[in-house]
Amino acid sequence: MGPVPPGPRSDREAAGVRGEAPSDYDDVLGKAYDARLMRRLLGFMRPHRVAIGWTLVAVIGLSALQLAPPYLTKVAIDAHIITGELDGLDTLALLFLGVLVVSYVLEYAQTYTLQVTGQRIIFDLRMRIQEHLQRLDVAFYDRNPVGRLMTRVTTDVDALNDLFASGVVSAFRDIFMLGGIAIVLVVMDWRLAIVALSVLPLIALVTQWFRRNARHSYRQVRGWIAQINAFLQENITGMATVQLFRREARHFDRFDAINQGHRDANLASIFYYAVFYPAIEVLGALAIAAIIWFGGGWTLQGTLELGSLVAFVLYSQRFFRPISDLSEKFNLLQAAMASSERIFALLDTPVSVESPRTSVPPVSTLTGPGHIRFEHVWFAYRDDQYVLEDVTFDVAPGQRVGVVGASGAGKTTLINLLMRFYDVTRGRITIDGVDIREVSLTALRSRFGLVLQDGYLFSGTVADNIRLGSDAISDADVRRAASAVHADRFIASLPDGFDSAVAERGATFSVGQRQLLSFARALAHQPLVLILDEATSSIDTDTELLIQDALRVLMSGRTTIAIAHRLSTVQGMDAILVFHKGRLRETGSHQELLAKRGLYFTLYQLQYRDQEAAFAR
Ligand SMILES: Nc1ncnc2c1ncn2[C@@H]1O[C@H](COP(=O)(O)OP(=O)(O)OP(=O)(O)O)[C@@H](O)[C@H]1O
Ligand SMILES: [Mg+2]
Repeated sequence: MGPVPPGPRSDREAAGVRGEAPSDYDDVLGKAYDARLMRRLLGFMRPHRVAIGWTLVAVIGLSALQLAPPYLTKVAIDAHIITGELDGLDTLALLFLGVLVVSYVLEYAQTYTLQVTGQRIIFDLRMRIQEHLQRLDVAFYDRNPVGRLMTRVTTDVDALNDLFASGVVSAFRDIFMLGGIAIVLVVMDWRLAIVALSVLPLIALVTQWFRRNARHSYRQVRGWIAQINAFLQENITGMATVQLFRREARHFDRFDAINQGHRDANLASIFYYAVFYPAIEVLGALAIAAIIWFGGGWTLQGTLELGSLVAFVLYSQRFFRPISDLSEKFNLLQAAMASSERIFALLDTPVSVESPRTSVPPVSTLTGPGHIRFEHVWFAYRDDQYVLEDVTFDVAPGQRVGVVGASGAGKTTLINLLMRFYDVTRGRITIDGVDIREVSLTALRSRFGLVLQDGYLFSGTVADNIRLGSDAISDADVRRAASAVHADRFIASLPDGFDSAVAERGATFSVGQRQLLSFARALAHQPLVLILDEATSSIDTDTELLIQDALRVLMSGRTTIAIAHRLSTVQGMDAILVFHKGRLRETGSHQELLAKRGLYFTLYQLQYRDQEAAFAR
């Protein structure tokens, strides 16, 4: 059986689920131990080495203590009960009790320290991942589906948590116990030790069978969970479309198929566990039966003390549980190794858009007037499919420049490059003659106020969204900005005004309202340069007029680059750039461009009738 979870292939293909490709799980449980990965994991444990050291001491002490009770029992039987020597029996009983109490305290200390340390390590790791995710460039997010990245921060980190919090240390404990018991048995009576340990080959066989199958079914379950996540993520995001096109039944069937796969994989896994644990119990009982049979005989012959026989039985009972636990720990270790491999691969993903390295001192502040220049800029998102070709233009300080062109002409791409969401493929972009790649990202981006096509709102309040975490912006500033762009009227109509809750992605606001909020946000941050990417969707005339006026407020006294779909937005601008298929084809003012009777003229004619109609109303 291959690594791909079983199931009707066509169904999964039809479901078109992206996200975690099953191949991502190929390596799950591949290697149980990888020294290189382990060294990096140990790096995360280093800050907590004192706590971990104490835990290990507690574990060793605990294993040693757990060896004591059967031995104390043996001494009690052989030295006191059989001989009738009552003196000292009370001491033994007290010792027995003492061992239990100390074990209890150690157990508590170990569990507590271990869990706390585990949580701290996991906390650090999640912060590291988040920090790296925030630095990764937008192109990375084009390539990596959300579902996969979510898995890194949740499931994969959890696998490591399991390893830290329960796996490693208790595996140590199991190994100490096994080794300790084996030694004590051999020392007490080597003949009976051979009898007791004679079931080990059988146990090895059963364990091998279990490990192979459990590992396989674990991989299957993980694969199916990834499918469920990917399916749900896409389905929930696109729920409106699903319902609009009445795809519910189909999607339900696809989910049914995936869900069944998940259930069956889980059932298989349950089967292996259900067989394995009782099997180990039975083998353990077999060993004890053999001990009683041979040991009983030897005791009657007088070559074995009764206490030793009892101790053997007690030790055997403690011997087989760690074996079954260990094989589970082994799976845990494999899962954690695979997870850490994926996490480290993410952490190692190079950040391709970066603030300049310190060898070239980064320009940390841009103090000049802010002359923006695109110089022979070429850009391709993928390979050599250029979406911008040899683009050159200037935006002088204080100038207002409009950008127009058909959908897909490359307008938004200009902004992506200016903000360094992506880096140019060829040519360069400069501000006051300085290549923007030599400027620190913070200095660069803080100059610009960006109102994007799909203005993004975060969950929080309306005021939070305008302020967007900047403490320098007071409540009064927020209100002033909102009223300057005419957003105050609709905000006042919300139940709690500026304190009204904003749903995730601003789902409860209209496109126009979201745009007004984005304007207020841009204005509140007082940027030196305003960048505007107009929403494509048409807006009613009233809102249109509001937005026009809001724009006038926003643009006054600011260098502005405005991408417009409605030519009415750009008519009054100082210059208009006309893009067509990635090339800058025409430049000039509204009147100059109309006089050229070129591309702009055609665009204008196309929109002319619509606009006449809209404004006539
Ligand atoms: N992240 C991306 N990865 C690959 N190709 C992209 C990406 N974003 C845009 N493109 C492609 O680049 C070209 C230009 O896209 P761009 O978004 O700049 O167009 P636009 O002029 O802003 O269009 P619109 O008016 O519809 O907003 C398009 O062909 C588009 O398919
Ligand atoms: Mg665009």
